[in-house]
Amino acid sequence: MSRQIGICSGKGGVGKTFTCINLAQALQDLGEKVLIVDADMGLANAQLMLGISPELTVADYVLRDIPLTDVISNIKEGLDILPGASGDTNLVNLPLNTLSDLSYEIVNLFPDTIILFDIAAGISDQNMHLLRLCDTRLVVFVDEPTSIADSYGVLKLLHRSGHLDKTYLVPNQVSNPGDGKKFYDKMNHLCLSFLGEPVGFLGSIDEDDDVKLSIRKRKPLASSYPNSSAWYNISKIAEKIINQNEGE
Ligand SMILES: Nc1ncnc2c1ncn2[C@@H]1O[C@H](COP(=O)(O)OP(=O)(O)O)[C@@H](O)[C@H]1O
Ligand SMILES: [Mg+2]
Repeated sequence: MSRQIGICSGKGGVGKTFTCINLAQALQDLGEKVLIVDADMGLANAQLMLGISPELTVADYVLRDIPLTDVISNIKEGLDILPGASGDTNLVNLPLNTLSDLSYEIVNLFPDTIILFDIAAGISDQNMHLLRLCDTRLVVFVDEPTSIADSYGVLKLLHRSGHLDKTYLVPNQVSNPGDGKKFYDKMNHLCLSFLGEPVGFLGSIDEDDDVKLSIRKRKPLASSYPNSSAWYNISKIAEKIINQNEGE
């Protein structure tokens, strides 16, 4: 059985893409087959952070009927990517059934794979639809009022449609794991008080200069800064995701 994990945030620039590509690498290191889907389809970033330049993108599949198998690009053994396009407005407001078909086809092509969707910022119908199609959701946020407000907005919408279950917070750019847990507690308290439902926690990611350096080098942390604390944090989150799967 494949698993589909949506990585979202509400607000942009909080570390979704960085988390997605490094989590993909960490899961692959642990022996999982992984597919990254750049669901920030019109403003794709994942391939940039991975330092690859695929020739075809999801635009070729959606708009030009190129088979998905030709568009999906192999990064290394056990790690593939469905690249997004850059600056293509045609991909921004896709009909929801096109997204359902895409997700269905991806799952059929990649059985026994962890599929990570790097979801675009904002609470568009398209983003929320993709998140609801996923079986697990990670909400990345930083300790700033705008990020907290926007991620709470996403949690509220997920709660309303009955999808807050199997949704986990990932506080990013925290000073230490203790602070990460505190930020989680704050947000979980909001959910319990106003939505009457808790949200899950898989761990936080430290603020780490190596993250910025690795992005500039266009290399995942595992190959550029394997001793960084952010890489350690992400590896721990990957372990929890796998254990959670085995526990079911
Ligand atoms: N843990 C971290 N430590 C330091 N900087 C970070 C961290 N996470 C993200 N960043 C910074 O935030 C920027 C935005 O990250 P990105 O993954 O592109 O966000 P998003 O996909 O949510 O828009 C990165 O380019 C990096 O400079
Ligand atoms: Mg991004």
